[in-house]
Amino acid sequence: MPVPLDAEDVRLIRQSLTVVESRTAEMAVYFYAILFLRHPQVRELFPPNMDVQRDRLLRALLRIVDLVDRPEHLVHFCSRLGRDHRKFGTRHEHYGAVGECLLEALARFAGPAWTPELAGAWQRAYAAASRTMMLAADDDARLRPAVWTATVIAHRRLGPQLAAVTVAPQDPYPYAAGQYVSVETARRPRMWRHYSPAHAPRPDSTLTFHVRAVAGGQVSNALVHETRVGDVIRLGPPEGEMVLDPESSLDVLCVAGGTGLAPIKALIEQMARTRSERCVDLFIGARTARDLYGLDDMLRLSQRYHWLSVRAAVSHQRIVGAEGSLPEIIAQYGPWDRHEVFLSGPPPMVTTAARVLTERGVVPSRIHHDPLDVPVLSSSPDPC
Ligand SMILES: Cc1cc2nc3c(=O)[nH]c(=O)nc-3n(C[C@H](O)[C@H](O)[C@H](O)COP(=O)(O)OP(=O)(O)OC[C@H]3O[C@@H](n4cnc5c(N)ncnc54)[C@H](O)[C@@H]3O)c2cc1C
Ligand code: HEM
Repeated sequence: MPVPLDAEDVRLIRQSLTVVESRTAEMAVYFYAILFLRHPQVRELFPPNMDVQRDRLLRALLRIVDLVDRPEHLVHFCSRLGRDHRKFGTRHEHYGAVGECLLEALARFAGPAWTPELAGAWQRAYAAASRTMMLAADDDARLRPAVWTATVIAHRRLGPQLAAVTVAPQDPYPYAAGQYVSVETARRPRMWRHYSPAHAPRPDSTLTFHVRAVAGGQVSNALVHETRVGDVIRLGPPEGEMVLDPESSLDVLCVAGGTGLAPIKALIEQMARTRSERCVDLFIGARTARDLYGLDDMLRLSQRYHWLSVRAAVSHQRIVGAEGSLPEIIAQYGPWDRHEVFLSGPPPMVTTAARVLTERGVVPSRIHHDPLDVPVLSSSPDPC
C-alpha cells in the first residue's frame, strides 16, 4: 500500500514529536480520557488498568514515525499490528474514534507548533497506518479465527510458583513447535500475555503452558494460583519465528533459563518426532538447583536419544561442575560456530548469551530467540 506522505509531511511529523516527546505520559492520559468519555463503547475493549497500554500505543506511534519514509517496513509493521488487534475485538469504526482523539491530544500538547499543515500530515499518516492495519486484519479474518476459546482440562503444580496448565481448544489450534501464544484468562479479562506451549503439536490439539507466577503479576498469578479445571481461556493466533528450519542439517545448541525451557522442549520433541540426526546440546539454567525445573524430564529424553546431551547451570548456588550463569557455562564448551542456536529465558540471559556466542564466531542469523519485549513492538522491521 503506498504511503501518501511527502518529505515535508515526514519532516513536520518528526519535528512535532520532538515538541511533545517530553510530555508523552500526560498526553497519553489525556488521549485515553477523551477517548473513553466520547466513545464509551471502546472502553470495554481495554483492560481495567491502563498503565501498560498507555506506554505501548505511544511506542507504536514512535515506531510508525520512525518508519514513515520506509513504506515497505511501515506496511510490515502496521500489518502485524492490525492482525494483532483482532483478538482485542477492534473493528473498523473504532479507528476513526482513536484517530480523532489522538490528533486532538497531539494538537493540545504541541501547542503553538500545531499548524494546519502539521494537522494534515498527521491525518495522512494516521489514515495510512490505520488503513494498513484494517486491510491486514481483514485478510487475516479470511484465513483464521481472531481467537480460539479453550477450557482448562488439567492444572498441575511444578513448584511453589510454577504450574503446568493444560487447555483443550474448541477448534483445532495449528502451531509449530517453538512458537508462542497470546493468552487471556476469564479471571483477568482483556489482559493478554504470551506463553509458549511446552511441547510439539499434539494430535488432540491440547496445549500445556508452563507458567511462573511473577511478583505482583496479574495474569501469571491468576494462572498459577487461581486457575481451576473448567476455567475458560482464550488464545490468540500462534506467533514467533523460533522454529526449526526443515532444510537445515546443522547441529543445535539450546540454552534455556527458567520457563524458557518450554519452547526449547517443544523444539527437541519435534526433532525427536522427525527422527532428526542433528546433535543437540541443551544447557538448562536456574538460580538454584531447586529452581531447575524440567531437568529430570530432559535427562530422561537424553537417555532415550543419543543425539541429545543435557547440562545444567546454577548461578546462585555452589554446585561442583554446574556453578555459573548460562552464558558463562556455554562459553566453557563449544565451539558453537557451526551450530544453529536457540535461546530462551529471561531477557538479560538471552542478550548476554547472544553476545558471548557472536564473540565466539556464531553468525547472528543462526541465533534464534523470542522477542525480549512486547512482541508486536519488537518485531523485526524487515518485510517478509
Ligand atoms: C514471547 C514470550 C513468551 C513467554 N513465554 C512464557 C512462558 O512460557 N511462561 C511464563 O511463565 N512466562 C512467559 N512469558 C512472560 C509472560 O508473557 C508474562 O510477561 C508474565 O507471565 C508476567 O505477566 P503478569 O500479567 O503476571 O505480570 P504483569 O502484571 O504484566 O506485570 C507485573 C509486574 O511483574 C513484572 N514482570 C513481568 N513479566 C515478568 C517476568 N517474566 N519476570 C519477572 N518480572 C516480570 C512487571 O515488570 C511488573 O512489574 C513470555 C513472554 C514473552 C514475550
Ligand atoms: C494506528 C492505530 C493504533 C496503534 C498504533 C495501536 C497500537 C497498539 C499497541 C502497540 C498495542 C499493544 C499490543 C500488544 O500488547 O500486543 C495496542 C493494544 C491495544 N489496542 Fe491499539 N493501536 C491502534 C488502534 C487501536 C484501535 C482503533 C483500537 C480500538 C479501540 C485499539 C485497541 C487496543 C486494545 C484494546 C489493546 C490492548 C490493550 C492492553 O492489552 O492493555 N487500538 N495498540
